Amino acid sequence: MQASPIADGIHWVGAIDWNLRDFHGYETPRGATYNAYLVVAEKVALVDTVKTQFVPEMLERIASVVPLDKVDYIVVNHVEPDHNSGLRLAMEAMPQAKVVASPGGVKGVAEYHNGLEIDQVVTGDIIDLGGRTLTFLQQPMVHWPDSMFTYCPEVCTLLCNDAFGQHLATSERFVDEIDEAVWLEELQAYYANILMPLGTQVGKAVEKIKELGWVCHVIAPSHGVAIRGVDLVTLLDRYGKWSTGHTRDKIVVAYSTMWHSTEEIAAHISSAIGSTGTDVYLCDLAVTALSKVTSELLEARGLILGSPTLHHGMLYRNAGYLQYLAGLKPKGKVAGVFGSYGWSSGATKQMTERLEAIGFEMPHPDFTWKYRATAEDFATAETWAVQFAEWSKQQG
Ligand code: FEO
Repeated sequence: MQASPIADGIHWVGAIDWNLRDFHGYETPRGATYNAYLVVAEKVALVDTVKTQFVPEMLERIASVVPLDKVDYIVVNHVEPDHNSGLRLAMEAMPQAKVVASPGGVKGVAEYHNGLEIDQVVTGDIIDLGGRTLTFLQQPMVHWPDSMFTYCPEVCTLLCNDAFGQHLATSERFVDEIDEAVWLEELQAYYANILMPLGTQVGKAVEKIKELGWVCHVIAPSHGVAIRGVDLVTLLDRYGKWSTGHTRDKIVVAYSTMWHSTEEIAAHISSAIGSTGTDVYLCDLAVTALSKVTSELLEARGLILGSPTLHHGMLYRNAGYLQYLAGLKPKGKVAGVFGSYGWSSGATKQMTERLEAIGFEMPHPDFTWKYRATAEDFATAETWAVQFAEWSKQQG
């Protein structure tokens, strides 16, 4: 893939990780990119680098635009290794470049790279490249304490690192070059699985961009495709809604099953919820990525978890999902639990305790039945599900 312009004087020189399928537990069926951008004016700045193994191809792309010894600055927007693990190699290839990061970034680079020293920039600092300027805005916890945005006002381009990212490997560089449903799906998945626990900070970032009045003809994150031709207000509102935990009338039903009894009830529950007009998403945790469930849950008001009892507790897949979800701290949601048992129950009690500890509201009673569900159990499950859906609607 060649270097390619994303704005006048700004070139994408990053890397495409076509085969990435797991980003620390977040399943990435469409792969990922690590975007780095070369801002070329009288002076030249590289904004962000890439994972170590992709540094040689990033250097080739830079060299196709300007000789490596003409790069004057390297800007580190974020020290997480997907952007920063290749920094030392990049610095060795461009030793004349002055490297800058936020105060947290300076500290993080030293810690990650065994004492490597770089220079500090803070919010409001400007680097004048001669014809282009770079303005910095610290954005702590979007995604790590060091995170920072870089803005180039002359071409109205925001280089915002993880914010507005999507895990999506493609040879295209802009949202208008791919299916809209695809990038929006990945935008949502990225928010749900990476930024959901940081809603307060994301909300502040959105407000800060509005307050500064930055015109953004191009929003170029460090993952996925650059956003152009999209109404900025609509985009910021979408992020703003997610950041406040805004929900709609939707319920996710996720279950595990041993001998299909819990699965059969799950089907009746989802069908009954659908009959109330509530949007429903049904999935078996044995075959559905946790990140997909979480993405579906982002805007949902309710989560219903099903598990049969095994050894007095829930199945490990439910426990795994609850552990995954606990770290993401979903807000403003309600939950219910159901599951079959043989001679001793326990799964629904365990799931209830864990869901309440995460912060789900769940005054609705659990629903259990013994062995294989009967026609009477199906009818009871449907009534239970309708009551849950109605109760969930009232929380909106
Ligand atoms: Fe893409 Fe927080 O790193």
